[in-house]
Amino acid sequence: LARGVREPDLVGRHVVVSAGGTREPLDPVRFLGNRSSGKQGYALARTAAARGARVTLIAANTALPDPAGVDVVRIGTAVQLREAVLKAASDADAVVMAAAVADFRPETYAAGKIKKKDGRDPDPIVLVRNPDILAEISAERPRPGQVVVGFAAETDDVLANGRAKLRRKGCDLLVVNEVGERRTFGSEENEALVLGADGSETPVPHGPKEALAEIVWDLVTIRLT
Ligand code: CTP
Ligand code: CA
Repeated sequence: LARGVREPDLVGRHVVVSAGGTREPLDPVRFLGNRSSGKQGYALARTAAARGARVTLIAANTALPDPAGVDVVRIGTAVQLREAVLKAASDADAVVMAAAVADFRPETYAAGKIKKKDGRDPDPIVLVRNPDILAEISAERPRPGQVVVGFAAETDDVLANGRAKLRRKGCDLLVVNEVGERRTFGSEENEALVLGADGSETPVPHGPKEALAEIVWDLVTIRLT
């Protein structure tokens, strides 16, 4: 096989990938959001489809073309993402949570646009916790033997934070990225350390998001039953 071309080792498999970043509305025109572009999740969806999988891509606020041969489900908020992931995961062999999920959402939604009030300080925004989708899927495993993968962006202590997060979430693999002001968000390239619940550590050198995606599917494939 030519370099970069994989065996169709995901034929007959259904994989679910989340991508992008959730947005939590304050009113009809404003939201709390994050800088995730969705490129890593789309690379995961494309490479899985190229390897023969049936792919459900759950896209949160992305501005990218639908990958060919992939079922794309568009959602906005973390609560909507949870619904879509749980639905798609019921018969999935693997679930990869590449989306950046808002940890909190505004407690209240104003049905009309929030207005300034003359001479008054703004009201504080009260936040409540969002559901932890990765922890829930990892605990429930809607399909027995399902492989669950998380992503984590860390700014420091990448290994220690990554190990602790892997245990806390209960997933099989955690892809840990080191991020900073100019790293990863919106870029075409990525560098990561993939931690396994079995104690494995797979460093992925700086390179295209497609290359990291292929390594994730390699690590998923050997764990599929
Ligand atoms: N995730 C999720 N649901 C959430 C938050 C995160 O499913 N409410 C998933 C993300 O999709 C990602 C993984 O969990 O795959 C790790 O996200 P991260 O934000 O690093 O984890 P947190 O537990 O939220 O930790 P932190 O306090 O560092 O943000
Ligand atoms: Ca978080």
